[in-house]
Amino acid sequence: MKINRITVFLCHALLFAAAGWSRPAVEVKAPVKTPPNKPVFSTGFEDGPGGFSPRSGNEVLTQTDEARRGGGYALKVENRTAGWHGPSVRIEPYITQGKAYLLTLWVKLIDPEEARIQVSTQIGEGTAATYGNITAKTLTPADGWVRLQGACRYTNLSSGFITIYVESPNSPAASFYIDDVLIEELGVPPIVLENISPLHSRYQDQFLIGNIASVSDLEGVRFELLTKHFNAVTAENAMKPAALQPNKGEFTFDAADTIVNAAAAQGMKIHGHTLAWHQQSPAWMNYEDIPRDEAIENLTVHAKTVAEHFKGRVISWDVLNEAIIDNPPNPQDWRASLRHSPWYKAIGPEYIEMVFKAAREADPGAKLYYNDYNLDNQNKSIAVYNMVKDLNEANPDVGGRPLIDGVGMQGHYRVHTNPANVALSLERFAGLGLEISITELDVQAGADSTLTETQAVEQALVYAALFKAFKAHGDRIARVTFWGLDDGASWRSVSSPVLFDKNLQAKPAFYGVENPEDFIAKNKTAAIQAVKQETARYGTPAIDGEIDPVWDTAAELPVNQYLMAWQGAAGTAKALWDEGHLYVLVRVEGAELNKASPNAYEQDSVEVFLDENNSKTSYFEAGDGQYRVNFDNETSFNPPSLAEGFESATFVSAGSYTVEMRIPFKTLTPEPDMRIGFDVQINGASGQGIRQSVALWNDTSGNSFQDASGYGVLTLIR
Ligand code: XIL
Repeated sequence: MKINRITVFLCHALLFAAAGWSRPAVEVKAPVKTPPNKPVFSTGFEDGPGGFSPRSGNEVLTQTDEARRGGGYALKVENRTAGWHGPSVRIEPYITQGKAYLLTLWVKLIDPEEARIQVSTQIGEGTAATYGNITAKTLTPADGWVRLQGACRYTNLSSGFITIYVESPNSPAASFYIDDVLIEELGVPPIVLENISPLHSRYQDQFLIGNIASVSDLEGVRFELLTKHFNAVTAENAMKPAALQPNKGEFTFDAADTIVNAAAAQGMKIHGHTLAWHQQSPAWMNYEDIPRDEAIENLTVHAKTVAEHFKGRVISWDVLNEAIIDNPPNPQDWRASLRHSPWYKAIGPEYIEMVFKAAREADPGAKLYYNDYNLDNQNKSIAVYNMVKDLNEANPDVGGRPLIDGVGMQGHYRVHTNPANVALSLERFAGLGLEISITELDVQAGADSTLTETQAVEQALVYAALFKAFKAHGDRIARVTFWGLDDGASWRSVSSPVLFDKNLQAKPAFYGVENPEDFIAKNKTAAIQAVKQETARYGTPAIDGEIDPVWDTAAELPVNQYLMAWQGAAGTAKALWDEGHLYVLVRVEGAELNKASPNAYEQDSVEVFLDENNSKTSYFEAGDGQYRVNFDNETSFNPPSLAEGFESATFVSAGSYTVEMRIPFKTLTPEPDMRIGFDVQINGASGQGIRQSVALWNDTSGNSFQDASGYGVLTLIR
C-alpha cells in the first residue's frame, strides 16, 4: 500500500464555556450525556520545560517562578525573531487518528503592548509539513494569565511527527509566559439524535443532501450521523490532485476508495472533488512557468486516469474548481476574468475545454461541473454564466451532449451574506438550462468558536432563507452539500459554521434547514435595523487639500461603527452636492498611517459607497460604486470605470488625515429632496500593514463592496 504523503488534520478552536444554547421555539429533547474528557498530556513546568523546546533554536525558554497560581513555575519564552518562533512540543505519542482532542493552555504576554498569540500544530517535517491553527487570542500584558483553548482532530495520519507550538504571526518579537498545558481526549456522546428524522428525507423530492467525509469519519458515531441525515458524500480532501497523484504517475487511490466504497455500501451517492484546481495539487503538476506541453499532459492524464478509476461510482465531478477571479471588474468578458493560475498561464483559456473533454471521455456517465466560491457576487456569477454559456455553445456535442453539465456554487457564506444575491445567481444559472448544485455550504457566525443564542438563531435564519431559495429552484438543483459534519471538525471551526455542534448535537441551524418556513415564522423578530439618514447641502468646494468654508454648514456623519473586533481609525464625514457632483470630506483620527499592503483595502484609506437612485439593490447596477482614497491620495475604484472624472486631495497632520473627493454623478440629475444611498468606510492598517480595523457610518454588513442594500441615506437639500 502506498502511503499518502498528504496528512490531513482538522484543528480548531472551540470555546467550551459557551457550548450550550437553549433551543429557541423548537422541541426540547432530553440532554445527551457526554462522557468526561480523558487527559493524555499535561505539564505545569514544575520539573522543567515539560517536553517543550525552541522551535527555531533561537528562542530562549526558561523555567520561571512567574506561575499562574502562586508557588509553582511557568515557562518564559523570549528572544523570538520571527512570527513562527516559539515553544514546541512533540505530541504524536498521545494522539490517535480520528479522535478529537481538547487543548488548553494559559498565556501571559510580557511585551509588546499587544500581540495575537496563536496555538498551532505541525504535522510532518520539511516540505511535507502541513500546519493548522488551533486557537488564538489578542492579548495585552495587563490581561495577566489568559486561557487559550481549542480542539483538534487528526485524520488520515501517516506522519510520525506532530507538534503543537505557540507563536505570534504578527508580532515577531513578542515574549510571553505559558503555563498549565493540558491535552484531553474528548468524550464523544453515545447517541445520535434519535428523535430527529433524517434531513435528506425532507428534501427527497427535490435534491440530494450531502456532506463531506474523511477516512476517519467512516466509523462510530460520526458515520452514524453522516449516514442518517445525508444521502450524498464528497471527499473533503481525498480526491484532490495532491491526494491522488502525489508523485507523477503514482496514483494513490486507497483513502478515496475507502470513502467511496463505505458511502456506496450505505446507498449514498458520491460526488467527486476535484479534477483540476490551482490549490491542493502536487508541486510537480502545475508549477509556475511549467511548459505548455507538460501542463497539458499533466492536466489531461490526471483527469482521465482519475475519472476512469471512479467511473460508474460517482454521479458527478467538479472538473474544474475556482477558475474565475474575485469580483471581476468586467464580467461580460469571462476570458479576462480568468484567474492567472499556472494552468491558465501555461495553456491559456483552452485548458478549461481540455480538462472537461478529458473527463467526459473517461466517464461519459458522470455529470461534469464547474465549481466556484462567492457566486453570490453578481460580477463573479455573470462571468461564470458567460463562460459556461460560451463553452457549451462552442462545444455542443462532446460525447452526445454539451461540454458542461452543471454549475457548482460552493456556498461558503457568512451571516451577512444576502440571500437575495444567492437567489439572483440561482436564477441566472437556471437560465443556462443546466444542473445547479450547492457544493460546499457553510455559514460563518459568531467568533472564537462561540455562538451566542442570538447568533445561533441569526445563523439558522440565514440557512432557512437559503433553503427557501433552494426549494424555489428545486427543479434545477441536483444536490445541496454541507462542508462539514460538525463545528468541531469544520475547516472554519472558529466561526461555528455548520448544522451540528462539536458534540454532534443539532443546532438551531439544523432546524432552520429542516423546515425553513416554520423556523422563520417562529423566530423572525420584528426588529428592523434603523437606516441612518442625513442631509447633504448644496455647494461646490474646491478639491485642493484645504477645507473650503462652504463645508462649515454641512452636516457631520460619524464614521465610527466597527466591523471587526479592533477599534482603530475612525472619523467624521460631510457631503455636499451640485448639478454634476457629490463632494465628500472625511477626517480620520487615530490612524497609524501605513500603506505597506499591496491590497488597497488594507491600507489606511477612506471608502465612499454610492447608490445614486437609492434603489438598494443587493448587487451593483449603474450608478452604484465604491470609491477608495488612501491617506497618500492614491485611488482605487469598483468598478474601475468610476475613475473617470473623479478627483481627490488629501492632507496629513499629526495623528489624523483628511480626504476630499469629487464624485461625478453617473446616472443622476440631482435635485433638492432627492435621496441617495450613501456610506463611508475607514480602513485602519496595523504597523505591519494588515487591515486591523474597519469603521462605517451605517452599513456594517461587510458587503458594501458588492451590495448596496445596506447603505445609509443622504437627502439632498438646498
Ligand atoms: C478545504 C478542506 O475543507 C480543508 O480540510 C483543507 O485543508 C483545505 O481545503 N473550497 C474547496 C474545498 O473547493 O476543497 C476546500 O476544502 C474549501 C474551499
